Amino acid sequence: MIKVAIINGPNLNLLGKRQPEIYGSTTFDEYLEKLKADFEDLDLSYYQSNVEGELVTAIQDYGFSHDYIVINAAAYTHTSIAIADAVAAVPATCIGLHISNIYKREEERHVDLLAKYCKACLFGFGIEGYALALRAITQGDV
Ligand code: DQA
Repeated sequence: MIKVAIINGPNLNLLGKRQPEIYGSTTFDEYLEKLKADFEDLDLSYYQSNVEGELVTAIQDYGFSHDYIVINAAAYTHTSIAIADAVAAVPATCIGLHISNIYKREEERHVDLLAKYCKACLFGFGIEGYALALRAITQGDV
């Protein structure tokens, strides 16, 4: 079975109640149940943290034990060389993801320090971006 870890960064624990006009009204816990049902062929793990160093450790851990990491580093995407270095360091294939189209938003969100270390990136598809990433993995597109 292909092993995939979804790693979400800061404030993504608030999905469903955080700025629903940008991020939607579904909680990630609800959505994760749907993903698990829709992608039974994948061995799916989930990790979320609001803490930069914990995210680095999670990328290191999952990055050597899993085939793929789907990572939404949230605001750390724009600032964290440490998280970008972790993505670069691990053998897992990393897919960068943003729920919103960061390039249509404030200028400080236009920098994605992780993207050059990711095999592919998705942004602007809403929460369904996670399903698109998993579908690409199951189909061998990435
Ligand atoms: C985000 C975009 C980031 O700019 C923001 O800080 C987030 C979420 C997204 O999924 O659209 O927290 O990564």
